[in-house]
Amino acid sequence: MIHGIVDGFAYGGDYNPEQWPEDVWAEDMRLMKEAGVNLVSIAIFSWARLQPAEDRFDFAWLDRAMDLLAANGIGADLATATAAHPNWMSLKYPTVLAVDEKGIRYTWGSRQAYCPSSRVYRDAAAELVRRLAERYKDHPALAMWHINDEYACHVDSCYCDTCAAGFRGWLTSRYGDLDHLNEAWGTAFWSQRYGSWDEVMPPRYTTTFRNPSQVLDYQRFMSDTILELYVMERDILRDVTPDKKATTNFMPLFKPMDYWRWAREMDIVSWDSYPDPHDPASPLANAFDHDLMRSLGGGDPFMLMEQAAGRVNWRQVNGMKHPGLMRYHSFQAVAHGADAVMFFQWRQSQRGSEQFHSAMVPHAGEASRSFGEIRNLGVELAALAPMAGSRIDADVGLYVDYDSWWSSEFETAPTSSAPYTADLLLWYGALRDRNLPVDMVSADTPLEGYRLLVVPRLFLISEALAERLEAWVASGGVLLVTAGSAWIDETTAVHPGGAPGPLRSLLGLQVADVDPLPPGTVFTVDFGDHRALDGRDWREELVVEGAETLAVYAEGPMAGRTASTVNRLGTGEARYVSFRPGPAAMERILEPALRIAGAEAVFPVVPGVHVTRRRADDGRTWLVLLHQGTGEVSVDLPRAGCRDAVDGRDVGSSLVLGDWGVRVLEEPIG
Ligand code: GAL
Repeated sequence: MIHGIVDGFAYGGDYNPEQWPEDVWAEDMRLMKEAGVNLVSIAIFSWARLQPAEDRFDFAWLDRAMDLLAANGIGADLATATAAHPNWMSLKYPTVLAVDEKGIRYTWGSRQAYCPSSRVYRDAAAELVRRLAERYKDHPALAMWHINDEYACHVDSCYCDTCAAGFRGWLTSRYGDLDHLNEAWGTAFWSQRYGSWDEVMPPRYTTTFRNPSQVLDYQRFMSDTILELYVMERDILRDVTPDKKATTNFMPLFKPMDYWRWAREMDIVSWDSYPDPHDPASPLANAFDHDLMRSLGGGDPFMLMEQAAGRVNWRQVNGMKHPGLMRYHSFQAVAHGADAVMFFQWRQSQRGSEQFHSAMVPHAGEASRSFGEIRNLGVELAALAPMAGSRIDADVGLYVDYDSWWSSEFETAPTSSAPYTADLLLWYGALRDRNLPVDMVSADTPLEGYRLLVVPRLFLISEALAERLEAWVASGGVLLVTAGSAWIDETTAVHPGGAPGPLRSLLGLQVADVDPLPPGTVFTVDFGDHRALDGRDWREELVVEGAETLAVYAEGPMAGRTASTVNRLGTGEARYVSFRPGPAAMERILEPALRIAGAEAVFPVVPGVHVTRRRADDGRTWLVLLHQGTGEVSVDLPRAGCRDAVDGRDVGSSLVLGDWGVRVLEEPIG
């Protein structure tokens, strides 16, 4: 049960009845029931229909659609409709439109073109939300609220004068006075000193590198400003419907918004997943995002709010989902802790920019293969209802930090060829391939429950966090810090003595210099047995200050120098890896760290198969086996007595998974 919203798993999608004549609605209800749909997101892009003029509202069509849903026992994830404003607003109040970094104001005509600081937008959104809440607060179809849609998807930063004024206010509360701002931003450089607050601007288009502290603070400010919009709507909804939960849909590996800060405001975390069927790396990134979303919600079940039943329409090549792939993606979400499997959208549009985007009901109709798969998935999810609400236990935490994401990718960073997420996915992928459940953690996450904490490229680190990590290690934790960490502080100033700044005594080393290499460069590393193992793309010149050397560089300018270390403290230890490991070196790094930490995998390694476990409060547990690929793979089960959770049959000692095959097994208790 997803937070008490529906029984069992939520199943459905975005429903846009306003795009269709009402006689189609009746057919929608019939097909929804046939497919087992129990929740739909409605009215997401309906503002111009709900408020056709500044002084006129029209809810009649939505009343009828909501009534129909209620009559058919389908819940509404009712949207606040504020993601795309009507054109009467931009014509009358042009500053409602956002401005890009070159000072060009967007024109109306697509979606999400509003400036997040615009008073007009905020007031109009607040009024619409209050009217919707008052009107539908007692409606039997109302299950939950869907606030806006994918905040910052198209406009993640606005550079207009209203935002500039807001930025100055935000900076004033952060730094107090201009002297502190000048100090923090290092404005002694390139004649950038400010003599008055009016001179302080957003980092607009300019000749070359902008001040990195200004860029980082603008990123933080925009994340906070757009979050204010969410909080404004949520507070109105809480006021009118205190018993209803609210969410907004997050996006995959989304850099512009600090989702840790956002998640604190969320009743339920939900997200939209669009893995590219043509990209063999997409299942890994998708798994990472699922785990991030679960972790953002503190481990509570999350919602897969949107996915595509087949093709999207916004890639260069919009690959179809071959038979089984939509089911694989759906169960991948369930495997990582989702209690909702939802789609964009219910019925494929006939007109508009998304007419070629797939849907649960495609143009080809109910006889199509894809609707058949949708119908079957509904049956399976209904059978799995007892599993909803169950959670995932993880011994391993993976540190994810937006400040480090933003700052390690500055235009002035030592290398621009390695995105922060490549490091996250490198380490996450190695853990996932070993069937180790992983939670993402932030500076706010309590660390007590974790045995191993992997910290990839934590470029920006505060003294306070370093102290927390040190205390955690001293009390028994195994910390694994990776290359490119601990260069700068919260204001972007380089730590005294350089990296690893406040982690220097914990790691027992100093980074004297770094050697960023062209992507694809491979070099050898020796873990003490003279076997050449591979490192890639980046290496560091370390000065050991008490740590024990675990591996040395075997060639190149650093031949013979330390490449990886361990430093013991209290009952724990802090490990450091100064290069990006290839698979063999990764094994040599992870194996001892996992063993010493006592972190447990949920299933033996079967190449191409990933396994997770969900655990219910009453002790029942389920394994989800996911075959990432085509062909057949046979899997031996380490325990007898597992039952197929869909049909209840005993599965014996082994099973075979076909193309993108998935099995959910209930384990015997105890
Ligand atoms: C999402 C969005 C939906 C739809 C979908 C298409 O980003 O929330 O409204 O546009 O993409 O893939």
